[in-house]
Amino acid sequence: MKYIIGNWKSNKNSTEVADWFKKIADLMKSKSLNFSNLEIIICPPFLYLPQAKAYRDEMKLPIKIGAQDVSPFSYGAYTGEIASLQLKDFAEYVIIGHSERRNYFKETDDMLSNKVREARRWNLQEIYCIQDEATPLSKDVTLVAYEPVYAIGTGIAETPQKASSVALSVKKNRQVKGVIYGGSVKPDNILSFLTAEGIDGVLPGGASLNPESFWELIVNAASI
Ligand code: PGA
Repeated sequence: MKYIIGNWKSNKNSTEVADWFKKIADLMKSKSLNFSNLEIIICPPFLYLPQAKAYRDEMKLPIKIGAQDVSPFSYGAYTGEIASLQLKDFAEYVIIGHSERRNYFKETDDMLSNKVREARRWNLQEIYCIQDEATPLSKDVTLVAYEPVYAIGTGIAETPQKASSVALSVKKNRQVKGVIYGGSVKPDNILSFLTAEGIDGVLPGGASLNPESFWELIVNAASI
């Protein structure tokens, strides 16, 4: 099974979310592909999770929904936060510890392990981002995304060899469901990552925004 996880970050408005789903639904209908070996996940901003889930359900798309973050606290008096309990009705996955959260919002390893605990409490599967082999992995983590900062949004992806060696070293040290690579994944390099030893999927940001390029990623991934 290979994961394809689209991270929209803080992009799109409500109309654009609607257009994306309509377009991807048309593309998915246009070609009979075997999706059974793929776990396709799209991570919209919080605000659009209910809308994304409604489109997914209505159009019966083989797409799971992920959040981009979760509160490190339970529900209650935490102004501005979205708790795991609130997310669980709209999302199956949650990204935790993206380098943009660590850098711009000063998220610490302690905070991130609380987020993993909260995600677990309501059965959200975490996608836990590490920036290199030295990034501490909070103890319950089962799905890891290796995302070197220099490859994010730069158009210069990590080499599949290096990504593979990080994935294998994570797997040597602990039992995980998978290790995913993220950072400038595009339709023309996705296969080099998906076929590299130890890599169980990809996490594209920019290439997930446009439904045509996201579809190309899926078609390429389905070819292996
Ligand atoms: P990118 O982003 O594909 O635009 O480099 C990846 C990510 O930050 O998850």
